[in-house]
Amino acid sequence: AQAKPLAGRSAIVTSGPTHEPIDPVRYIANRSSGRQGHAIAEALAQAGAAVTLVSGPTRLADPAGVETVHVETAQQMLDACLTALPADIAVCAAAVADWRVSGKADQKLKKDSGSLPSLALTENPDILATLSKTGSTRPALVVGFAAETEAVLEHAMAKRKRKGCDWILANDVSEGTGTFGGDRNRIHFIDENGHQDWPDSTKVEVATTLTEKIAAHFAGTTT
Ligand code: C5P
Repeated sequence: AQAKPLAGRSAIVTSGPTHEPIDPVRYIANRSSGRQGHAIAEALAQAGAAVTLVSGPTRLADPAGVETVHVETAQQMLDACLTALPADIAVCAAAVADWRVSGKADQKLKKDSGSLPSLALTENPDILATLSKTGSTRPALVVGFAAETEAVLEHAMAKRKRKGCDWILANDVSEGTGTFGGDRNRIHFIDENGHQDWPDSTKVEVATTLTEKIAAHFAGTTT
């Protein structure tokens, strides 16, 4: 039988992009595939955790043994995460849109209206920062990602502090790395003690390594 080091623990995982509507037929999105987040949800479940995966729109099947909640927008993703509390673990792997369109049009914008439309944007809630600051219902371990294109470690360490999370998995998504939408990932793991460079791995291997680290963390804090 497989070891279940996270039996009795619960986890929330966010994954995929968000879609922010412009009008009834158009939206703003990004190139996230959801592969890393879904792999983490599946690995945590295999380790025995009760997992709620809050996923934006992806082409992926719902992972086996995971309760999957499907959302579109950042606001819906935040609401679903808050509904899933309390949890021992939160892993925010979603590529949440930073902005949404303020005053989304109720009808399809028409190109023959005589003028070009302009979009006014509003900032979306930061789900990772919000979960890190939920006070008495804060998950014991909050993990975020930092996709950077330069000064990866420096930016990611600053991000860990700013967001208030415990661990950051930083990756280089500059052009040519193929990380976004691809199968592989090269992670710099950051906690309060410093950083470790993980070898170039598949996203499934990153999920396994993270799950082992989480299990070790809880083994150390549990008697
Ligand atoms: O600030 P930045 O988008 O680089 O931070 C990335 C981390 O924050 C990821 O873990 C991502 O899932 C999370 N995030 C979030 N909500 C946002 C923006 C980012 O949870 N609105």
